[in-house]
Amino acid sequence: AFVVTDNCIRCKYTDCVAVCPVDAFHEGPNFLAINPDVCIDCELCVPECAAAAIFQEDELPEGMEQYLELNAELAEIWPVITEIKEAPLDAAEWDGVKDKREHLIL
Ligand code: SF4
Ligand code: F3S
Repeated sequence: AFVVTDNCIRCKYTDCVAVCPVDAFHEGPNFLAINPDVCIDCELCVPECAAAAIFQEDELPEGMEQYLELNAELAEIWPVITEIKEAPLDAAEWDGVKDKREHLIL
């Protein structure tokens, strides 16, 4: 499955959700999670993310390992999102900021 990682936090552009053929994305307050049981590894969402936050689970960048479990957990409790919505007003300011995990709102 593919995994949403750190740089999505507070960017949350949501372009990814529009291309997912199986509605695998779930929405929280400032982050999205992919349901690993639903994702069919099509890769369509990867180039849609302007924050380059989505990776295949076997190719997670160093330090992003925790997001594998986190996506699975959060997809269980957050609702599905299938339509693009406005990104946070300050999304661009947060794009590329390191270690945003502490900013994740559950
Ligand atoms: Fe959806 Fe494909 Fe991305 Fe998986 S890889 S979340 S199926 S768009
Ligand atoms: Fe997040 Fe990128 Fe989707 S910032 S909401 S994974 S387009």
